[in-house]
Amino acid sequence: MSKVSLNIIAATCQNMGIGANGTLPWRLKKEMVHFYSMTTKVKDSTKINAVIMGRKTWDSIPGKYRPLNNRVNIVLTRQVDTVKKEAPNDVVVLPGLDEAISYINGQEDIESTWVIGGSFVYKAAMEHPNLYKIYLTEIQKTFKCDTFFPNIDKQLFQLVDEEGIQKDRQTEGDIDYYFRVYKRKVSEEFC
Ligand SMILES: NC(=O)c1ccc[n+]([C@@H]2O[C@H](COP(=O)([O-])OP(=O)(O)OC[C@H]3O[C@@H](n4cnc5c(N)ncnc54)[C@H](OP(=O)(O)O)[C@@H]3O)[C@@H](O)[C@H]2O)c1
Repeated sequence: MSKVSLNIIAATCQNMGIGANGTLPWRLKKEMVHFYSMTTKVKDSTKINAVIMGRKTWDSIPGKYRPLNNRVNIVLTRQVDTVKKEAPNDVVVLPGLDEAISYINGQEDIESTWVIGGSFVYKAAMEHPNLYKIYLTEIQKTFKCDTFFPNIDKQLFQLVDEEGIQKDRQTEGDIDYYFRVYKRKVSEEFC
């Protein structure tokens, strides 16, 4: 068993939508700050975190923001050679989640691993035994979406309070949301 534990991070609206037309259906600056903070923060300052994303999520990031800074960017695609040719050299392009886990397992300097979407990669992570926690921003509004977050199995994952994660309602403009953390019920942390 690999020692890599996976954390999912996502923002969902009330119909569990995560995206529309290849982009985010909302614009929430503080939520983006939360995403940046969660995916970059490390206990050991000599280390760095990894983010794993699907090729379409990679494509959805504006050129000036990618690769996502201060993180090892791993892009999953079934067209590794093509995507590799187009991506900057420091982006790791791999054919699947297990390959990404094997890669991270061999990297001493990676502290935490974040699965950052989209729906295909969330689904693969949700079905993976190494999935440890799900950090969900639950937006209290419905947006028209064409991409959705997979079902969370409440037999396996339970809502928990986590130090450092604000429990109270967040508001940006006319949008309210909550930061929620779901943790695998019977689990040893792998690292
Ligand atoms: N709300 C949020 O938190 C959030 C987060 C991320 C993304 N999004 C949104 O979600 C949408 C994009 O998500 P999506 O579901 O359409 O696409 P995606 O999961 O980002 O990417 C799908 C592509 O990734 C590759 N892929 C996925 N799973 C793979 C696997 N297990 N092994 C190998 N390759 C794999 C395939 O690439 P190839 O076709 O190249 O083979 C597939 O076509 C956008 O609208 C984006 O803005 C929202």
